[in-house]
Amino acid sequence: MSKEESKPKILLTGKTGQIGRALAPLLDRMGELTALDRQQLDLSKPDEIQRVIRGVLPDLIVNAGAYTAVDRAESDEAAARAVNAVAPGVLAEEAKRLGALLVHYSTDYIFDGAKRTPYEEDDPPNPLNAYGRTKLEGERAIRQIAPEYVIFRTAWVYAREGRNFLLTVLRLATEKEELRIVRDQAGAPTLSREIGAATAEVLSNICAPANGMRPWSETKGIYHMTAGGETTWYNFAQLILELASSQLPAGDWLAAATNNRPLVARRIVPIATDEFPTPARRPVYSVLANRKLNDTFGVRLPHWEKQLRAVFSGRASDMRTPSTNEERGAEK
Ligand SMILES: NC(=O)c1ccc[n+]([C@@H]2O[C@H](COP(=O)([O-])OP(=O)(O)OC[C@H]3O[C@@H](n4cnc5c(N)ncnc54)[C@H](OP(=O)(O)O)[C@@H]3O)[C@@H](O)[C@H]2O)c1
Repeated sequence: MSKEESKPKILLTGKTGQIGRALAPLLDRMGELTALDRQQLDLSKPDEIQRVIRGVLPDLIVNAGAYTAVDRAESDEAAARAVNAVAPGVLAEEAKRLGALLVHYSTDYIFDGAKRTPYEEDDPPNPLNAYGRTKLEGERAIRQIAPEYVIFRTAWVYAREGRNFLLTVLRLATEKEELRIVRDQAGAPTLSREIGAATAEVLSNICAPANGMRPWSETKGIYHMTAGGETTWYNFAQLILELASSQLPAGDWLAAATNNRPLVARRIVPIATDEFPTPARRPVYSVLANRKLNDTFGVRLPHWEKQLRAVFSGRASDMRTPSTNEERGAEK
């Protein structure tokens, strides 16, 4: 990172994604932001990555772009690898060349789900699917190459827009009286806005270390960054439906999510993973322990249920992300 007083130059990839959209306004306040979509920077093209980065000369590179279609990756692993594994390596080379800090996101799907207690950062990875394999390769490339990096592993990401479970459940609830949702996979649904806020908090710690903060060289590494608590897709869907049903009249985002159609779903049937075969196998348990993020940076994301309720309530007090650890940490 440049040590000058001036604001850092920041390059953000994947600005149209869930996390990219959450990050853009926050990074814009932190520095001189160049936020790029896939047309402006195609991460599957290493030459383009080099050319763009050498044009922008960023102090900070935030890679929110990724190949995230977990099932499609099974039959399209080369394309997933180009974006999730090769591109992070090229970004790391360029970050090294510039002395820039590289911020990257990875996934709970690098784990196989055999544990029954939350995964720590140094638990051995063993991805069950192509997406997880390529994301793990991306992590390893960055760790090998970039002198200054931070990797945030997150999970079950959703937002009011984009492609995610929340919006899928809401759409299905306008189409079917009965939804069948997997009950035997556990994780922590995490709102992209909270990931953006937590990332910005970490970066402000790093870029302007407060008294008592450890030097940057000691804080580089992998950090888990998910909502507090844990649940199943089934329980998550139940709360989505409950909250959506009590939202009358629907706010703008909910009206868009349901295409202004009434909710017709009357019940959700819990099913086993085996009853809903998908091309990609998924871990049955992928809850991540977030202690390291809290211990190192004093950052903790709210409980998943609190995050989901805030999405529906839209109340300013709920939508604001607390800035202190005490405010943030209060788990339900
Ligand atoms: N979604 C999850 O549940 C989840 C869970 C764990 C970890 N993560 C990780 O979190 C990060 C962000 O995920 P997200 O949920 O924000 O994903 P997302 O909503 O699917 O967004 C992915 C972004 O990457 C862009 N992208 C895809 N291929 C690209 C390419 N070849 N060149 C440039 N940009 C490309 C997409 O552009 P388009 O809009 O043009 O497609 C989009 O902006 C990723 O590293 C992901 O692996 C996500």
